[in-house]
Amino acid sequence: MKRLTRTPLATIIVPNPSGGGCQAALPPRSATRERRPVKIAFAGKGGSGKTTLSALFTRYLAASGLPVVAIDADINQNLGTALGVAPDRLARTPPLGAHLHEIKQLLRGDNPRIASAEEMVKTTPPGRGSRLLDFSPGNPIHQRFGCSVEGATLMLTGPFSEDDLGVSCYHSKIGAAELYLNHLVDRPGEYVVVDMTAGADSFASGLFTRFDVTFLVAEPTVRGVGVYRQYAQYAADHDVTISVIGNKVQDEADVDFLREHVGDALAACFGSSSFVRSMEKGRHPGLDELEGGNAKTLAWMRDTVDAAPKDWARFTRQGVEFHLRNARAWANEATGSDLAAQVDPDFVMGPEALAEQR
Ligand SMILES: Nc1ncnc2c1ncn2[C@@H]1O[C@H](COP(=O)(O)OP(=O)(O)OP(=O)(O)O)[C@@H](O)[C@H]1O
Ligand SMILES: [Mg+2]
Repeated sequence: MKRLTRTPLATIIVPNPSGGGCQAALPPRSATRERRPVKIAFAGKGGSGKTTLSALFTRYLAASGLPVVAIDADINQNLGTALGVAPDRLARTPPLGAHLHEIKQLLRGDNPRIASAEEMVKTTPPGRGSRLLDFSPGNPIHQRFGCSVEGATLMLTGPFSEDDLGVSCYHSKIGAAELYLNHLVDRPGEYVVVDMTAGADSFASGLFTRFDVTFLVAEPTVRGVGVYRQYAQYAADHDVTISVIGNKVQDEADVDFLREHVGDALAACFGSSSFVRSMEKGRHPGLDELEGGNAKTLAWMRDTVDAAPKDWARFTRQGVEFHLRNARAWANEATGSDLAAQVDPDFVMGPEALAEQR
């Protein structure tokens, strides 16, 4: 498993007796630091705090004036509420998962290797002629499916309803998010935050290889760290970076527990928070009310993602690998064609591919 370059944890985590966090001594932040474009996943056990931290990190980035897209890719769609979007606005926001055909039609562009939207599956990789996406205001997916909130753009995969049972599976809904990420060329200082579904399901599709950073949210409990061990194994098999964010951490003993069980995969800790509890009571406090220690943790998380390596060649390669696996497993049979032919062997995703298209 690849690890991010980071300051040894011992030097960055100190208990904060005033509560609210355990990141009190951060390394000095460089005004000239290099920013990289980042796709970030928040994964973890049910109830660990994925949605809470996705929402707070999105708000933190947006409040710093940075472009950020937040995607709710969980079966239970809670990210919009956590971001403070009113229920009627959420209801009016078209979910990606309900418009898969339209999204495929758009993204296929005039790629000669993709004969029709019907032959496009969630893993179909972009190639020459595909419609690549960026963060410009003209992004048709953001325009059509985005809901603007505090400077960020929220998109929803849509809930998994009773009607879906036996007809489709949740993976086909999050397939829309996978297609979006596959076709998105994010540029330095642009961020995509994805609130993933709980448990190992996040690793059941190729979606988990689409990220530059996977934050695994873990409570300082036996079950919390048990999930880490399970994920670490999947991640190691697929060259994916995992960084653990301890959540609901109360004291130094909690930090020690996490460190003992996840070692240097522990990137930061977020404290048990009265700010978060007030969100649960229906309030939507300003970020300036967040406990100082927890605000520092968000800053540290941003430094962590900014330091993540961006590797478009790997992104392309992993996308193709999952597509070929998917094709063999079911998609060739389902579509009646050999989907390996959709792979454009000379194509590499990234800024150059986008520039050629424009
Ligand atoms: N740092 C924190 N301090 C206090 N309460 C917290 C903290 N983080 C999360 N919570 C609370 O824990 C509960 C679960 O949080 P959240 O919904 O973010 O978890 P989740 O991982 O997204 O859950 P699910 O798997 O159901 O989607 C919520 O009640 C939330 O308010
Ligand atoms: Mg959630």
